[in-house]
This record gives sequence, structure tokens and C-alpha cells, in this order.
Amino acid sequence: MVVSQKKYRYVANWKMSYNLNETLDYAARHYDAYEKLADTPSTTIVICPTTIALYPLGKIFGQSNIKLGAQDCSDHARGSFTGQTSAESIRATGASYCIIGHSERRRLCGETSAMIASKLEQLIDVHINPIICIGETLEENKAGKTLSALEEQLNPLLQIMNKKQALLSYTSVSIAYEPVWAIGSGLVPTHEHLETVYAWLLQKITKSGIQVQIQFLYGGSVTSKNIEQLKKMAFFDGFLVGGASLDFQEFEKIVQY
Ligand code: PGA
Repeated sequence: MVVSQKKYRYVANWKMSYNLNETLDYAARHYDAYEKLADTPSTTIVICPTTIALYPLGKIFGQSNIKLGAQDCSDHARGSFTGQTSAESIRATGASYCIIGHSERRRLCGETSAMIASKLEQLIDVHINPIICIGETLEENKAGKTLSALEEQLNPLLQIMNKKQALLSYTSVSIAYEPVWAIGSGLVPTHEHLETVYAWLLQKITKSGIQVQIQFLYGGSVTSKNIEQLKKMAFFDGFLVGGASLDFQEFEKIVQY
């Protein structure tokens, strides 16, 4: 495993918070400011809007430093999968990243770890940078089952990376640890908890022998109020930001801190 240098990656997960027109309007209004924010080699900003906005946003941000990402993709390449969007089509919009395995999709859409592993395979095949979310529920956390829950989610993903080793050099993989209980709750795990999780993750990936450039991210209630404390922790080099990414000034503070 190759651990990348300290280069922060900020993923703005806009979820379904803005409709299409609001998304385009918001992006156009803040275009210059986003450009400025991303204009440093140590910072990558990835905006993940609602899927239908990817194509027009690709036109707006196409020549800029801002990267675009989808919030999900199909676990199939093509075929009779009504309502789904293939990794290939996401690529064609100009997006170069894609979130997979977000807990809202696991919980609300019944996505299993095996399905998420198939999505990873689709992304690797078309050279889209995967942003893989993993995280334990509150019940798992309280029962002391955090690492076993993460292991169940991670193992099928490692198997795919192993199988696709030859293609992995075309992508930069992010693993975002997002405890389900920290998302949108205002709660952030303790330093000790995060240290344990990321040390375990690092060991697990190193042991797998997979040669891959992995960037660890943290997600769950990241705001301008806790970013100082989070950036002091050396275990990860990026953030997946939900609610706080919907307010440009707030997002700017997180990036610039
Ligand atoms: P949050 O969401 O920052 O609003 O907690 C993070 C996420 O769901 O990815």
C-alpha cells in the first residue's frame, strides 16, 4: 500500500438537498470562489450534486480545478436496471469521482456490502475515483462491534481491489470512515476511537498486500467549529462533508482552516 502525502481532499456531499435549478444557481453563484478555494496543489475539492446536475455542472466546472463526483452508481455496467445510472454514464458527464456505500443508501435502499463491492468494480473499470463509505451503527458501536462491522463492509471491497489490481493505478481510492451515528447528529467520535479505527484500517489494507493509493477521509458532522480539532489528528487526510457543505462560507472555513 502507498500512503499518499498530506494533501487534503474535501468532498462536498450535497445529497438531495438542492433541486436541479437550485444546484445550478448555487454553483454558478459561487463558481469563482470555489475556483479560488481549489487553486492550491495541496487541496482537492470534489462536489457531489444530485445526479441529474452532473452533466450541466460538468459544463460549468469542466475547465476548472473543481472535481465532480456522483453520489452513487449502478452495480451493473448496463442493461435492464430501471432508474439506475452506470459508472460509464457518470464518467461521460465529466465527473471523475463517485461516492459508494453511503450509510443512507445502505439503510434506506437496502444496499449490501456485496452490491457495494460490485459498484466498486464498475468504477475501477471506467477509471472513476471511488469514495467508499464505511461505518458502524450506534448499536454496533455500543456493543463494542465497531471493527467487526467495518470488517464485514471492507472485506468484499478488498477482494475487488485485489482482483482489479492491474487497473488500480488509474484511480485514486478514498475510504471515508463515517460512523452512522455521527452523520447529521452533531456528534464526532473521540480521538481514541478514531485512532483505533484508522490504525486498524491501515493495518488491514497493508496486510492485504494490495498496491493502491488510498486516501483516508473522515465524515460525520464536520463543521467549521470542530475542524481545528479534526485537522490536528494525523490519521486521515480529507473530509466528507454533508450539511456544512451547503453553505459556501461554512465550507470555505473548513477548507481554509
Ligand atoms: P454530515 O453528513 O456532514 O451532514 O454529517 C456527512 C455525510 O452524510 O456524508
